[in-house]
Formats: sequence, structure tokens, C-alpha cells
Amino acid sequence: MANPRMILKTEQELQEAILQEKARGVPDIEIGQKYGVTFRYIEKLITKSKGIAVSALRDYKKVKALYPKDFKEEQTTVWSFKQRGNWATHSGEYRGNWSPYIPRNVILKYSKPGELVLDYFCGAGTTAVECKLLGRKCIAIDINDKAIELARKNSNFKVDVKQSALFDDGIQLQPYEPQLSVGDARDLPFLNDSSVDLICAHPPYANIIHYTDSEQGDLSFFETDDFLKEMSKVAKESFRVLKPSRQCAILIGDMRRKKHVIPLGFKLINVYLDAGFKLKELVIKRQHNCKTTGFWYTSSIKHNFLLLAHEYLPIFEKPKSLTPLSVGESLADYAWIVPTLARPTLKKKLDEFETTTVWVLPEKDFEARLNKNVIDRYSNGAGYSTITFVSHSESDTCLTKDKKGLLFIKSPFLASNPSRAGVDCYLQKTKEIVAYELPRVSTGGFVVIQTQDVRIGEYVEPMAKRVVDAITSGSLWLKEIVVVVQEKSKLDNVVSDNDRYLRITHQYLLIYKKVY
Ligand SMILES: C[S@@+](CC[C@H](N)C(=O)[O-])C[C@H]1O[C@@H](n2cnc3c(N)ncnc32)[C@H](O)[C@@H]1O
Repeated sequence: MANPRMILKTEQELQEAILQEKARGVPDIEIGQKYGVTFRYIEKLITKSKGIAVSALRDYKKVKALYPKDFKEEQTTVWSFKQRGNWATHSGEYRGNWSPYIPRNVILKYSKPGELVLDYFCGAGTTAVECKLLGRKCIAIDINDKAIELARKNSNFKVDVKQSALFDDGIQLQPYEPQLSVGDARDLPFLNDSSVDLICAHPPYANIIHYTDSEQGDLSFFETDDFLKEMSKVAKESFRVLKPSRQCAILIGDMRRKKHVIPLGFKLINVYLDAGFKLKELVIKRQHNCKTTGFWYTSSIKHNFLLLAHEYLPIFEKPKSLTPLSVGESLADYAWIVPTLARPTLKKKLDEFETTTVWVLPEKDFEARLNKNVIDRYSNGAGYSTITFVSHSESDTCLTKDKKGLLFIKSPFLASNPSRAGVDCYLQKTKEIVAYELPRVSTGGFVVIQTQDVRIGEYVEPMAKRVVDAITSGSLWLKEIVVVVQEKSKLDNVVSDNDRYLRITHQYLLIYKKVY
């Protein structure tokens, strides 16, 4: 008999034939013998087309521990989990699955036992497993049938009710089995209006990783703009099915194209805001799998780029009513002073560049370390000027006439949570300064804006997103979005009963390059 591999002309034909055999349930050993390929080859192929490693498709998994050890709910806007979490049936086998610490925190903060949680990008069922462990009902769908198959296997474990924390008003609950099915997040006809208590989901990041081998409905096949258009259908459905005053948490990351950043996170926030949601919290999720030493350190400096090391977890809320929250504040006046900043000198040991998009700096030298990194990395030795917003200052401006490599705009007044009018005035002034000063920044030079989110009333004003929306000059390309955090302080995990909100502990540096 002729070897089928010889008859199939192309690699693609071979792969299609193998996928068809797999779909018919032919064992890997037979496929390997028939097509002359290794088990590893089959596994790689399935992983590519279905998002799952073949070895993951075991029927039962051993469960060592049902709950994470020493778990504490997050209290600030920076969430950082050094271990991804492998309690219950969680593991990293599904491509791009999220750490179970994320849905666990969201579920505990924004729902009660017995309530209904929806995850419309179920993947391997991380949210569904957490719902089962925490006594929440869960509906989870995914366009990928293999993901749902895996999610069913992952949800197939017993919860020891006596050892669990499944209580509601003192009544012990039984764990609810999650309802898992193949479906499309853009269309949720099986859910009534205002019927869901919490949405907790993790979409593809446009077309970075494909999850299926079919373009039919899989959002991971869409380029950024079309992906956002499709996500606006998801956001509309989310708004319809969620109960008023309840939350919708979405994890999303930025993308890089030609050494510049595409702010997919901020763009997706706009999509959900346009659907009618308000922003309750904007959490930064740190990623710990970034290499920051040796080769990466040298390349990061040589080619002047930072490794993406954070994602965003916006937590939206469907407002009770659609009336605006506050109106009629008069414009506050914020002036600026220049130049205030001498290039800081630091002890040799501390004199190192940051190489990822998350800069964690010690409280003591925080401002000096931040300034030094910005000035040394982005002024190219070609001079710099700084502009610092000062609340209600009457100082005149006297901007330098010389060309410079870096314009650095700082806004420490945001730390005292200004009014909506103060924020609008700040954005307007920032735009004016950039327009006025840009001709004095040399081509190839940088504009860096240090900013931070502020809470106004019940909601968050995402200032970095608003600055990115406001700066529209074609000659400025967004090169990096950096998150700056002070090293973890003992206060970070202190739980206060009065704290209805997360403490905002991060700032941003928006780094623009002048390209012409
Ligand atoms: C980032 S993964 C989710 C991972 C999941 N949080 C986990 O922990 O396993 C994104 C998922 O979205 C699914 N997906 C893509 N387009 C979809 C659509 N239109 N409706 C529902 N799911 C979709 C993909 O199949 C993929 O499983």
C-alpha cells in the first residue's frame, strides 16, 4: 500500500487529513503509523488548530488541593500573582488561559453565593471551575468545541461541601454544576434582559493567537479594527443581559506592531463605555513571564523597546440610571512651571534601566528613579525640558526655544483626586502644551506624559486612556505605555471594611516618539 504521506502533496493537505482523522476519533498511534508522523507532530498540530495540547485531553485529573493556600483578596489596583495557580483542576494547558486568581478575586468581590456568573469566552473553564468552588451558578460558552470539551473535563471534580466555604446567610449551599456549551459571545438569545449578576471574561487579544481552525465566528481571526467592531456586539449583549448596578470584568492586553504599541486595552475600554457601561475600577495585572536580564536587557537598551509586562482588567458597571452623574462644574485652572527638574544622580547600584512595561520602584527613591529612567532612556543626550502641572499656580511659562530630545510632562496634582472640571482642564492644557512645544522637539525625539487614573464619585476617570484619546497628532506615535508602581508596601494587603474601592497605586508614563 502506498504511504498516504507520499500521496498528499502539501504539508497543508497532510495536516487537514490528520485533523479529519482526529475528528473521527482515530487514536494518535494509528494516525502516526498511517501518515509517518510523530506524536509530537500531532500534538503541535492540534495545539495550533484547537488551542489545546493533545496530552491535556485526559478524562480525569488528579486534584491535589481544592483551594489556593493563603489566599488574600487584592486591595489595590495592581494585581500580581507570581504563581499562576494550580489548585483544583487548573493548569496552563489551554493557550492563553488566565490565572485562576483573577476570576477568583472578581467573583468574591462582585458576587454572592448562589448568584449567576457569565463567562462568554470560557476557554478551558477557569471561571466555571472557580464558580463551582465558590458556590456561584455559572453559564459559560465558547466558540471552540474543543475548549468546551476541556472545560467539561476540568469541571468534573467533587467539592467536599464540609471543607468548602459555600455559605449564604448561614445556609450551606451545594456546589452548582456550571452550564457549558458551544456558543457565540456576540449573540446571547438564551439569556433574558437584566438576568446576570456578574460577567467575568477574557477575550482573544485580536488576532495574536488563533483558537480554532475556522474563521466562522472566532474573534481571534479579526484584525484590530474589525475585532473591536465585533467586540462592540459583545459589549451590547453584555449590557443587555447584566442586571443594573452589577459588574462586568474583562481582561485585555496591548499589542506591538513595528516597535510601537497598539493600545488595544484602552480601545476596548472605549467599546464598553460606548455600550453604556461606567468604569468602576481599572486594574493592572502584572505578567511575570518576561525575561529582563542578559540578552533581553542588552537588546531592550540597544533597540530602545520595553517588553510588554502588563494587561488591563477594567471592571465596568451597568449604571442604575442613564442620567449623567455630575454636571455644571466650572473649569478649574491649572498652570505649569518649567523647567524644574535636574537630571537625578543615583548610586551606581541603582543606576539601571527598566526593561519591561512595569517599573516597580522603591518608595524612597521613587521620583528620582522614575525621572532618571525617563531622561536617560528618552532624551538621547540631546537635552530635555520638563513641564509640571501645579494646581492653581499662577506661574508664568517661559518655554525654551532650543530644540530638545525630550519633552517630559508631569502632573502630580492628579494624586489629590481632582474634580471632573479639573480633569477636563488638564486634558485641554496637555493638548495645548504638546501642540505648542512639538516643533521644539527634534525628529526622533520623545514626548513623555506622566499621568494617573483618578476616582471621581463612584467611578474611575482613566486618565492615561483619556490622554491617549486626546493626543491625535500624526507625527507622534505611541511607543510605550509604562505602568509605574511603588514597591509593595505592608499596607497593600490591609483589608479595611470601609474600603468599597481598590486603592489606586499605579501611575502611567505614555511615551510618544516624534516620527517626522
Ligand atoms: C483568552 S481565551 C479564554 C481563556 C479562558 N479564560 C481560560 O482561562 O481558559 C479566549 C477564548 O475566546 C474564544 N472565542 C473566540 N471567539 C469567540 C466567540 N465569538 N464567542 C465565544 N468564544 C469565542 C476562543 O475560542 C478562546 O477559547
